[in-house]
Amino acid sequence: MNEKKPITAATLLRAKQCGEKTAWLTAYDAPSAGIAEAAGIDVLLVGDSLGMAVLGLTTTIPVTLEQMIHHTAAVVRGRQRAWVVCDLPFGSYQRSPGQAFDTTVRVLQQSGCDAVKLEGGTHMSETIRFLAERGIAVVAHIGLTPQSVKRFGSYRKRGKDDVERAGLIADAQAVAEAGAVAVVLENIPTGLAAEITAATSIPTVGIGAGVHCDAQVLVWNDLLGISVSNPPFAPAYADMRQLMHDAIARWAGAVKSGAFPK
Ligand code: KIV
Repeated sequence: MNEKKPITAATLLRAKQCGEKTAWLTAYDAPSAGIAEAAGIDVLLVGDSLGMAVLGLTTTIPVTLEQMIHHTAAVVRGRQRAWVVCDLPFGSYQRSPGQAFDTTVRVLQQSGCDAVKLEGGTHMSETIRFLAERGIAVVAHIGLTPQSVKRFGSYRKRGKDDVERAGLIADAQAVAEAGAVAVVLENIPTGLAAEITAATSIPTVGIGAGVHCDAQVLVWNDLLGISVSNPPFAPAYADMRQLMHDAIARWAGAVKSGAFPK
C-alpha cells in the first residue's frame, strides 16, 4: 500500500487482491483519529459503539444520527489519509432505500466521511444496491449485529448451526453483489469467516471472526484497555484505564497536598 496517498475503497480492494491485511479501528474524536492513523491504522470506523464507548449507554439502540454526525465530523478533522466510515444508527435506514439515501446524504455532507456502514445481509441488499448505484461507498455488517440485540436477546456467536451458516454465506454473497465495498463479519466461527473471505470478491473485516479475514477491526476502548471488560475475542494491548487513573490520581494528590503548582 502507498504510505502517502489517501486510502480509498479501491485501495482496500487492491489490498485484498494482493493478500495484504488492513487494520481498522473505531475512533470517536479528532485526537484519537490522529494517533490511530499515525500508528498505522488504515480505516477509522466511527461505530455506533460510540453509545457504550463514549456516551455511557448500555446498547447501540439509543444512539442518534446527530451524535454520529457530530463524532464523525471530529474524526474526519483529525485524520489525514485514513478512510473514515460512519455507522448509520438504528432506525435511520431500515425503513426503505429512500430513507437510507436521505440519511446517508446528511452523513456524507455534514461529516465529510468517506463511507457508511449498515447492519444486515440479504434483507438489506436492495438498500445497499440503491446507495451503491448512486455512488455511495457502503460497508455491510453481518453475523452478530448489535442493533438487533432486542430481537435476538444476546450478543452470542452467530453461524454455529447449519441454517445460520448457510444464511451468512448467502448474506455475504448478497451484499457483495449489491455493491457493498466491504463486509464486517462479527463474532462468527473462524472456519466460516475463512470460507466467506475466500468466496467473496470484497474485503472481509473480522471482529471475533478469526485470522483469515482480509482486515481486522477492534473497538478503541477494548484495544487500549479502557473498557471495564472486553469481549473474549478483543484483547487489550495496553492498560490505559490504569495509566489514566494513576496520572489523574498523582495530580489530584499533588493538588491536595499543595505540591501543584510549583
Ligand atoms: O459499532 C462498532 O464499533 C462496530 C464494530 C464493532 C464493527 O460496528
